[in-house]
Amino acid sequence: MRILGAKVVPVGFGGRTLKEAVDSAFEAYLKDPVTSIYAIGSVVGPHPFPKMVRDFQSVVGFEARDQFFEMTGNLPDNLVACVGGGSNAMGLFSAFIEDPCEMYGVEPAGKGTKLGEHAASLTYGSEGVLHGFNSIMLQNEDGSPAAVHSIASGLDYPSVGPEHAYLSTQKRTKVGTANDKETIEAFYALSRHEGIIPALESSHAVAFAMKLAREKPYESILVNLSGRGDKDIDFVVENFPPEDYK
Ligand SMILES: Cc1ncc(COP(=O)(O)O)c(C=O)c1O
Repeated sequence: MRILGAKVVPVGFGGRTLKEAVDSAFEAYLKDPVTSIYAIGSVVGPHPFPKMVRDFQSVVGFEARDQFFEMTGNLPDNLVACVGGGSNAMGLFSAFIEDPCEMYGVEPAGKGTKLGEHAASLTYGSEGVLHGFNSIMLQNEDGSPAAVHSIASGLDYPSVGPEHAYLSTQKRTKVGTANDKETIEAFYALSRHEGIIPALESSHAVAFAMKLAREKPYESILVNLSGRGDKDIDFVVENFPPEDYK
């Protein structure tokens, strides 16, 4: 970001997670809405941000649909994408919404099932309001956003975009999970078998797809690789040495 000329301001309050970064960015925007523009990174926030981000991300979905058909002569039986706020998943799903595909949004199961140990909002959450939108979220007893954890910093958000809550309630999409351990194993598996180093966020989708492939050995699975793992290499190598994953 700095190479491209941006001034990067780290968030220094609360849990210093994605939620606080969004709080902070909104605050800066509201202080100066005339000369600044708010560019949100996921399908969250007040209308029209969730729809705008979904439509931008759907370019990847429509391209993937065309390429999959070209390569196989069929549409995929299953779609798998990780869900933080839910933009890469929503962009993929929106291209296939009329098709007979099973769509799986994969949430971070982190290191346990207690509040604060994961960021699996659809799996464990309930209806609430955050950042100007109504959806399903992880909340404390007083309705404030709960603390969250994921090994992938892009997934540690206590809610999901409203369209994910809707599609999941309508049973059009399904919710899967991958925990921190499965995610690291998938990070190494894809790197070693395909030479593709996935982001830790995307590694959640890979981990779930590996479980799904065992359940559905004769069906095709399209996995959305939402990002490259270059940004995660130092963290992974230091904390989960390659020698331990032979
Ligand atoms: C590589 C990557 N994938 C996925 C996400 C999660 O965002 P979303 O759920 O909006 O796709 C992030 C967020 O920072 C990310 O960096």
